[in-house]
Amino acid sequence: MLKTIEDLKGLKGKRVLVRVDFNVPQKAGVIRDDNRIRAALPTINYLVKEGARVILMSHLGKIKWKEPDLAKIEEMKKANDMAPVAARLGELVAPVKVGFCPETRGEKLVAAASELKDGEILVVQNTRYEKGEEKNDPELAKAWAALADVYVLDAFGSAHRAHASTVGVPSILKAEGKPVAEGYLMIKEVDNLTRCVEVAKEDRPYIAILGGFKVSDKIKVIDSLLKKCDKLIIGGAMAYTFKKALGEEIGNSPVQDDQLEYAKKCVEDAKAAGKEILLPCDSVVTDSFEPVEGRVIKVVEGNIPEGYQGVDIGPKTIEAYQKAIASARMIFWNGPMGVFEQDEFQAGTKAVCVAIKELEGKAFTVCGGGDSASAVKQFGFKESFSHVSTGGGASLEMIENDGHLPGVDVLR
Ligand code: 3PG
Repeated sequence: MLKTIEDLKGLKGKRVLVRVDFNVPQKAGVIRDDNRIRAALPTINYLVKEGARVILMSHLGKIKWKEPDLAKIEEMKKANDMAPVAARLGELVAPVKVGFCPETRGEKLVAAASELKDGEILVVQNTRYEKGEEKNDPELAKAWAALADVYVLDAFGSAHRAHASTVGVPSILKAEGKPVAEGYLMIKEVDNLTRCVEVAKEDRPYIAILGGFKVSDKIKVIDSLLKKCDKLIIGGAMAYTFKKALGEEIGNSPVQDDQLEYAKKCVEDAKAAGKEILLPCDSVVTDSFEPVEGRVIKVVEGNIPEGYQGVDIGPKTIEAYQKAIASARMIFWNGPMGVFEQDEFQAGTKAVCVAIKELEGKAFTVCGGGDSASAVKQFGFKESFSHVSTGGGASLEMIENDGHLPGVDVLR
């Protein structure tokens, strides 16, 4: 049984290490979207209110440790410094005191953790400053576990990573008989995504919508969804691999030739199982992906001519997809329908948002993080969904692995 944060008793004065996912989009310390920090506030505020001494750990960005040039590693570290994130949290929880430790190990960190007072917060430097974090290095996990009396996982977006801070630390604390639990964000995410995995009768028809770039990234999720859902809608660049597999011309559209066999078999198997896979019947195409002056943008039905690439679903496809979505009692959506970063190619992704908004009060609708979650926010539809996940990779892995994630399993 998974313990939740509210099962933890006597938190006053206890050092609670919370693994959060503060991997926010930022550049040179300017945070573009603080949604992930805000999403962890219910857990942080609860612990503060209970008088716990809160130690927050998160990764930020990527540090490529294989890089042989040490100066470049230092540059990557600098670009992913957690200090601005700690400062933003300080603004959000003011007047609660938020300290920042620029070190990830050693005397300074131990001192900062032990000097914490009841109801205060300490943010630790980016966990990926440690080479051993992604390898779940036992020595590193031991050093971090030694800082805490209690462990809380609230980093849904990172719960698919078996790293030192997500799996190593709770494993050690559990073995020492110390309490481990999930925070409020984890509870919400796991509950909502579990509903998309353990499908109830009243949630049918269950329609899954997948978009994005590569079929290869989504094979496991497609296989899993085809077992669970009643209909699968495919858009985005990955649709062109399916179209080519079915014998259509796709011009210069992106394609994964090594996935053609898989895509063909996928459609055949779905048909044999009485399930429908919806693919675009028309596309918005362009002769230049780059927004150069004078580029041609047009709608084509069926085959895409040479020299053109598909960049969004077309109006007939929009109509068909909206009609299908309108019949759903449950939706899981991951991946945009087109290159929504360019104004000209937003219509397909927006149309999915509109169709899902129409389902408000009638169906359970989940956006599984990543680019589609960014699009939902950008177009102002966040409140129209039952749930918008904070984790792209994590929500897909939950679907793939029938509700299992390394970070969740270790707490169970
Ligand atoms: C995410 O942004 O998906 C999570 O924070 C995980 O980040 P990662 O893919 O770098 O592990």
